[in-house]
Amino acid sequence: MKHLLSIEELSAPDLTAFIDLAIEMKAQRGNHSSQPLAGQTWALIFTKASTRTRVSFEVGIRELGGTPMFLSKNDIQLGRGEPIKDTARVLGRMVHGAIIRTFAQDDVVQFSQFGQIPTINALTDDEHPCQILADLLTIKEKLGSWEGRKVAFIGDGFSNMTISWMWAAKHLGFELAVAGPSEHLPPAEFLEQLNAPNVSASTNVQAAVAGAHVINTDVWLSMGQEGQTEKEALFEPYQVNNNLLANAAEGHLVLHCLPAYRGKEISEETLEQHADTIFQQAENRLHAQKAVLAKLATSS
Ligand code: CP
Ligand code: NVA
Repeated sequence: MKHLLSIEELSAPDLTAFIDLAIEMKAQRGNHSSQPLAGQTWALIFTKASTRTRVSFEVGIRELGGTPMFLSKNDIQLGRGEPIKDTARVLGRMVHGAIIRTFAQDDVVQFSQFGQIPTINALTDDEHPCQILADLLTIKEKLGSWEGRKVAFIGDGFSNMTISWMWAAKHLGFELAVAGPSEHLPPAEFLEQLNAPNVSASTNVQAAVAGAHVINTDVWLSMGQEGQTEKEALFEPYQVNNNLLANAAEGHLVLHCLPAYRGKEISEETLEQHADTIFQQAENRLHAQKAVLAKLATSS
């Protein structure tokens, strides 16, 4: 595999190989036997804000022997309208890999085509593959496996996070129940394309959470939608709080990719009760992405 552009285009063996290597990376942290990025420079091209993704990639690249180069949109000519394909053709001759956070999925795809270097999607409007790898790693650590588990995703049912989760469920076969307001559920054409009988989407939040082993949520307004605060009222019945979790499975996990808005998509009480899992999930970004970097750097 040369790039990580989406969960959609991965297979079940790809996903499990990333998770298995992430577990090794985590166990070997501080004591890596190989430095697969030695002598390499990897560019991080970000047109949206980031705490976890930026820091985990910068640290991970260094831990694997490479050098990160952070380029915000405003630092480079991309921000003044230079096309992504020209940016890709220039950087592709200078750096060894690119990690891109932006709006359009097509920009990441174009970069991978024109840059001819390993390209990683660090979040677009369509997918957040690196986050889903960290989430799966957390489930494996905490519950042993996702097999036979029910996962609920509550809130925006058609965001980058939910789309990536739906593809992960399709590939891995676990039950995924998405619940959100009707205006924010996956459209019928998407569900047809997904063609996954184990994935459901409805407005019925109680049914989605009933018996769930993992309850996942995310911001109601993703980056780029911050001004659309009138939508927040639609999401109010979909807050993850202890009342909602009453019918979840015994020993359930609560996941949140962060940043969290307490009192909106999750209550303060629920977030703090599940902070151990949620911050382990955040740490797992580092280990999962080191697995991605190592695999892409060493694949031909
Ligand atoms: N979860 C996540 O991607 O966080 P950042 O936006 O801080 O990178
Ligand atoms: N759906 C969120 C994820 C943040 C990590 C967003 O795109 O803003």
